[in-house]
Amino acid sequence: QLPSEVKVKEVGPRDGLQNEKEHISTIDKIEWINQLSETGLSYIEITSFVHPKWIPQLGDAVDVARQINRNPEVTYAALVPNERGLERALEADIDEVSIFMSASEAHNRKNINKSIGETYPVLSPVVETAKSEGKSVRAYVSTVFGCPYDGKVEMNQVLSVCERLFEMGIDECSIGDTIGVANPLQVEQVLSSLSDYFPKDKLALHFHNTRGTALANVLTALQLGFTTFDSSLGGLGGCPYAKGASGNLATDDLLYMLEEMGIHSGIDHRKLLKSGEWIQNVVGKPLPSHHMQMLRSG
Ligand code: HMG
Ligand code: MG
Repeated sequence: QLPSEVKVKEVGPRDGLQNEKEHISTIDKIEWINQLSETGLSYIEITSFVHPKWIPQLGDAVDVARQINRNPEVTYAALVPNERGLERALEADIDEVSIFMSASEAHNRKNINKSIGETYPVLSPVVETAKSEGKSVRAYVSTVFGCPYDGKVEMNQVLSVCERLFEMGIDECSIGDTIGVANPLQVEQVLSSLSDYFPKDKLALHFHNTRGTALANVLTALQLGFTTFDSSLGGLGGCPYAKGASGNLATDDLLYMLEEMGIHSGIDHRKLLKSGEWIQNVVGKPLPSHHMQMLRSG
């Protein structure tokens, strides 16, 4: 029995753009987010308050967050790595704070310059302050299905990181296949273990489509009763500190599959595709989603 409704969280303006080498202007980022806000999406991760030296593309985070048109139906979220990032996020009045860390030591260190053990005391006050400011908090756990440096990641390690994050008081945990290595059988195993310990409605899935398995993984998660999925319009994106983490699951391809199966998300596919074509023009290269390919070939 598949769910009849799901929540799709658009991460393109953050996970998509963070990997773009060519600088995208602040005005174009704002215009794109404004377009996305009118597609029926209820959640957009718009930018990232990480150190601008690490991700120069998103160094304009405060300006972007301040200057977009806020649709009251939309939750505007952004990545926050530490208290300095939270200060900037609060200054920009972001709705939801997304903290992040990895289930594998090596990726955690490459990505945020700390061991897993050193990361908890950094994130804990971020959650506490964000909550006291009335913000909801989501956490990403990266490299759950495999790490580009450490290889296989033990389930116990995943469970222990998730547990620590829930103890801090996060509202939702997004389970990341950072380098797109997961397959449906593995997804079934990992999600079955996770749902022994945490409520399904507090878990989201964040698949990358690097090896073409993302939609198959979504179907498996749907069959297990999971209903929140992160995706990026046109399949833009990746993690700059995980080689080969190109191509998030594409929102346009995801939406097609869901709608055809009678699973609703409230998003207008036609408007979404128009906005996909628009950002494709801005980044000036073909986007990898199947729908963008179809549109290009007429
Ligand atoms: P660090 O160098 O260890 O930072 O970087 P630090 O705490 O030692 O501070 C050094 C200096 O940076 C200080 O300034 C701080 O104030 C400043 P100084 O006192 O020397 O003048 N600083 C900041 N400035 C602005 N904003 C900040 C900030 N923090 C410190 N937030 C840090 C540690 C975490 C900051 C760095 O490693 C970083 O920014 N990493 C981000 C990497 C990143 O963005 N990766 C991609 C996102 S994760 C992802 O894509 C995966 C995901 O999609 C899920 C999945 O697919 O699995 C979410
Ligand atoms: Mg990602």
